[in-house]
Amino acid sequence: MSTLKTPLCDLLNIEYPILQAGMGGVAFGPLAAAVSEAGGLGTIAAISPTPERVEQEIKLARSLTKKPICVDIGFPLRAPKEKSDVNLPELPGPLKQLQQEIEALGVEVKPTDDQAMSIDDARAKLEICFKHGVEVIACALGTPKWVVEECHARGVKVISLVGRASHAASAIRAGTDIVVVQGTEGGGHTGDVGLITLLAEVLEFSTVPVVAAGGIVNGSQIAGVLTQGAQGVWVGTRFIATHESSVGPNYKSSLVEAENDSTIRSLLFDGLYVRQLQNRFTEVWEGHENELQPYPIQRIVVAPARFAAAAADLKDHQPLPAGQGSGLIHDLLPAGAVLHRLVEETVTALRQSRDRIGLAA
Ligand SMILES: Cc1cc2nc3c(=O)[nH]c(=O)nc-3n(C[C@H](O)[C@H](O)[C@H](O)COP(=O)(O)O)c2cc1C
Repeated sequence: MSTLKTPLCDLLNIEYPILQAGMGGVAFGPLAAAVSEAGGLGTIAAISPTPERVEQEIKLARSLTKKPICVDIGFPLRAPKEKSDVNLPELPGPLKQLQQEIEALGVEVKPTDDQAMSIDDARAKLEICFKHGVEVIACALGTPKWVVEECHARGVKVISLVGRASHAASAIRAGTDIVVVQGTEGGGHTGDVGLITLLAEVLEFSTVPVVAAGGIVNGSQIAGVLTQGAQGVWVGTRFIATHESSVGPNYKSSLVEAENDSTIRSLLFDGLYVRQLQNRFTEVWEGHENELQPYPIQRIVVAPARFAAAAADLKDHQPLPAGQGSGLIHDLLPAGAVLHRLVEETVTALRQSRDRIGLAA
């Protein structure tokens, strides 16, 4: 294996500056362990699962690798309304249609109790991470100062996930160790600024290492952002198409089949912008955008259809969050093989660009 090292590797005690992103429903113990074992940093997504499930996944990862792991926890700066506080509208027309289609495929759409994101819930998960000696905590949805202080008191590193330069500035003020900037190309919840611009903007003022995210699926892209000044990458979608990710075969094969214009960024998932592959789940809303509800109402009303379709791995009717890099994913591999290929491709791309530009070795 080639060497690919930045100061971020020493900070996180990892071999390669490639971090696997926290991804709800996708990134649990097996994926995180496989990436960490291969020399990157694997992350368990802990926003929605219960504290008990988070503990189970940490134990599983620990049984598979002794190397550092990360847990991604959502710390909402403003707690969302409880489900019981929300006046739910009559089911919007497109959702009725979607549910009927799902049921016609023999899948029951049942009421769900989507886990509310609350500070108490996040605090309980953080305590579990401390109990099991998790080395790195990723803060999604904001970086409270108390989280940084409690982590630092135990020698735990903090990564902050941001989609805007102003959010990066707040996280740095709160004392974070690393900022991950996610461009609009990224899968899942995403902002509207492209990575090349957002990265340059944050590099102008950041006093901590900056990691690039959004649309990154191969080594030439990694070489590009490292050259721009990033110290590493946070890669999501590429790791969905691996043996260890926790989604069904239809989700994985959709990524391999996707074209570079297959994703849309839309409010239909939960009322916040989410980038996902276009399929029947997105198509039913076309022309009915006026029926979309604000967050968190949209999240609550969509949940039964979303969970039923995902549990049954219905290719056309489940949400498929994915970044614009999907069109560049051509195979389904073990996560460790993906990581090692990314390293080799990056080293090759950096060497080739040096030769192409004519710089002395
Ligand atoms: C399926 C999926 C689920 C995601 N869930 C989360 C999550 O639970 N927490 C989080 O911080 N980010 C989440 N994200 C965003 C990722 O952390 C990351 O920023 C993004 O995947 C990077 O873009 P890429 O997918 O193009 O590599 C999710 C992304 C995807 C694709």
